Amino acid sequence: MRLVSTANLPEDARLARDILSGRDGAPLLRAGVTLSARFIEHLHKAEIQAVWIDDELGRGIDPVPVLSAQTRSEATRALAALHEEARRAVAAGRTLDPEATDDLPDVVDAILQEIEEHDARAVVLADLFGPSAYIFQHSIDMAALGLLVGRRLIVEHGWLDYKGERQDDRHEERLFRLGMGLLLADIGKLALPESILNKPGKLTEEEWEVVKAHPKNGVKLVRDTGAWCPLVQGCVLRHHERWNGSGYPEGKLDTEIHEMARIAAVADVFDAVTSERPYAPAKSPHVGVQTILAGAGTHFDPVICDVFSRRVAPFPPGVEVELTDGRRAIVVSVPEIELDRPVLRVINGADAPFDVALGQDPSIQIAGWNALPAPFAAAA
Ligand SMILES: [Fe+2]
Repeated sequence: MRLVSTANLPEDARLARDILSGRDGAPLLRAGVTLSARFIEHLHKAEIQAVWIDDELGRGIDPVPVLSAQTRSEATRALAALHEEARRAVAAGRTLDPEATDDLPDVVDAILQEIEEHDARAVVLADLFGPSAYIFQHSIDMAALGLLVGRRLIVEHGWLDYKGERQDDRHEERLFRLGMGLLLADIGKLALPESILNKPGKLTEEEWEVVKAHPKNGVKLVRDTGAWCPLVQGCVLRHHERWNGSGYPEGKLDTEIHEMARIAAVADVFDAVTSERPYAPAKSPHVGVQTILAGAGTHFDPVICDVFSRRVAPFPPGVEVELTDGRRAIVVSVPEIELDRPVLRVINGADAPFDVALGQDPSIQIAGWNALPAPFAAAA
């Protein structure tokens, strides 16, 4: 199968995977259906940016999505209910109900289980949803990516306790709390006025100051819930702090920032850059990878960036790329080492489609993703 922009679907394309609503997790279309004009219009209305299709060009390609449709659907439902309660709490000037986060542990467990299952494979972190689903899907993808990186970090380096000493036990407990912290990191955004949260243009100085309050707002909102613990607090409060002290809310530096919040910072920025947001179009995941690696040692903890670079493939299986010589290709598979030198299926040029392993042919270079997923506006 392969990933195709909904703006650019071939005629009679057959869906390879179920499509969910990014806003409430409900199924929209099932795998196996042929995409008629009516179905395509349905996809556009639901702001679906790209879909997986089965065709000859994608034959034998078996990408691993970072989360299954079922886990994403359950996570979206749980977050939609949590956000509704957060809006009520903000309106009433109170904290979240103690049981408001009770559905999240099952979500974290499901995400962790999936990440363990495909530990050695390159996962696809392509955002398929539109801007109005951003607030839910960002929290879910941030949790999945943060746990993907956090799990490997803990396996290789253990974890830092509150005295700054490395520990190497209770990995599961640590990861579970990291997952809770990642799902809740942006909960304070629910206290922002819609006009700022979804503003299409650049924020004014004053609006930016309001946005910068969301980590502290989040801490206040969550403190009476069952999710509360120092690690969750660290993720919520410090996910916008930067390794060199240039972040907010307090400009904390390197190890002053909770190690799990340093993971959250990397996951947050990668997913934000690669998602369709109300104020910015999605960039391709390889640009997201470049953004993180360019920030190693300045914005981000270099050890976490190193783990990230070994877990996140800039060109995952099933996506279309453009080569520096102008030809187009589809990524067939990604080796465990050299994640940026995948096996490609070259699909235009004089010859019939053929596969080539970039690890064995240094002359072939990838210029970038071939405009996937396309900005939704392009399909309107
Ligand atoms: Fe945030």
